[in-house]
Amino acid sequence: SPWFSAFFTFIPLLTLESSPRLPAPKDVMVYSYNFRSSLRWSPVKVDRGLVLYTVHFKTGAFNQWDEMNCTRIAQTECSFPLSLKERRWTVVLRVRAELGQVTSDWVETDPFVAERNTTIGPPKVNSVIESSDSLLISVTPPFGSEAGDFLQYHVSYWENATSTTKKEIKMSSTLFEIGNLKELTLYCFRIQVELMTHSDLQLLGLQSVPKCHRTTISETTRAAYIVLIFVLVSLFVILVTAGLFLLWRHHKTIKYWSQPPLEIPSHFEEYLRDPSMPVLEVLDNYAEDDPHDSISVIFSGDGSQAWGSSLDGQAHAHSVSGDSEVT
Ligand SMILES: *[C@@H]1O[C@H](CO)[C@@H](O)[C@H](O)[C@H]1NC(C)=O
Ligand SMILES: *[C@@H]1O[C@H](CO)[C@@H](O)[C@H](O)[C@H]1NC(C)=O
Ligand SMILES: *[C@@H]1O[C@H](CO)[C@@H](O)[C@H](O)[C@H]1NC(C)=O
Repeated sequence: SPWFSAFFTFIPLLTLESSPRLPAPKDVMVYSYNFRSSLRWSPVKVDRGLVLYTVHFKTGAFNQWDEMNCTRIAQTECSFPLSLKERRWTVVLRVRAELGQVTSDWVETDPFVAERNTTIGPPKVNSVIESSDSLLISVTPPFGSEAGDFLQYHVSYWENATSTTKKEIKMSSTLFEIGNLKELTLYCFRIQVELMTHSDLQLLGLQSVPKCHRTTISETTRAAYIVLIFVLVSLFVILVTAGLFLLWRHHKTIKYWSQPPLEIPSHFEEYLRDPSMPVLEVLDNYAEDDPHDSISVIFSGDGSQAWGSSLDGQAHAHSVSGDSEVT
């Protein structure tokens, strides 16, 4: 009967409305960086069909859910519309998954207030001008400020060599100077922005990556270096001139001293001239043939000692002491 079939086709629709069969989106988060905000979530995976998502919002003032131009979208991110750019508003969002008539439960976020919940990025460092005792830094704020905003730049800096002792200064201008620095020293710095709003909220931003710059040489040190180099060069020139002068004055003496100090013994010289003569034989002959010659050399050189060595120790000592008395 038609009533019977109509009843059974209606049943599944009823069950769908009362107990949604799609899993709800997970990891639902508001991502907000420099006041650019969006809602993001993990995709819902099902075997059949493409899951779509719908996002609603409500503000603290109007406690009523409204569409966010993210109705039945396939992507898992929904950017805040311009109408929600007001930083002080409290916004709550909700998202659900949909597949045809089948939907998931809504997943609601915590209340989001941009000026409290956004993540402030580091400022952009445009330029760094080094001098001998300071670094002049120009930055761009990470976001466009609104009336009533007060931005402060927290600058922490340190000598790269001693990275443990960090100093911090707070600046409210986008062009500022780190002063009282040592010359010719590598300094590193990181900057973070602090936003102070009229509602007395303070939001501290992320730190920039360290940037390192070397201070220049001061005029005094440069002058001192120039004087030092001049003195050294003058000294060198004077020494070279004096050296050349002495060379010229004493060239005869130098010629004498520069003669080879070692002379080849005469018998080796003979051997070198006539290599056919065996050198050992020459030496043997030298010792055998002319014994008197060698003795006479020793005798004439140091007579008393030569004689003393042939006697016993005491006599030797005596003759030596006797010698020293004579001289
Ligand atoms: C809504 O979304 C569509 C497509 O994503 C876009 O063209 C349109 O400008 C959006 N409208 C508003 C008011 O954000
Ligand atoms: C915003 O910040 C407050 C306080 O820090 C926190 O409780 C809340 O969960 C944040 N909201 C979002 C959407 O993250
Ligand atoms: C800073 O010092 C560290 C060691 O203290 C060194 O490894 C590094 O290269 C230095 N940075 C620069 C930019 O010279």
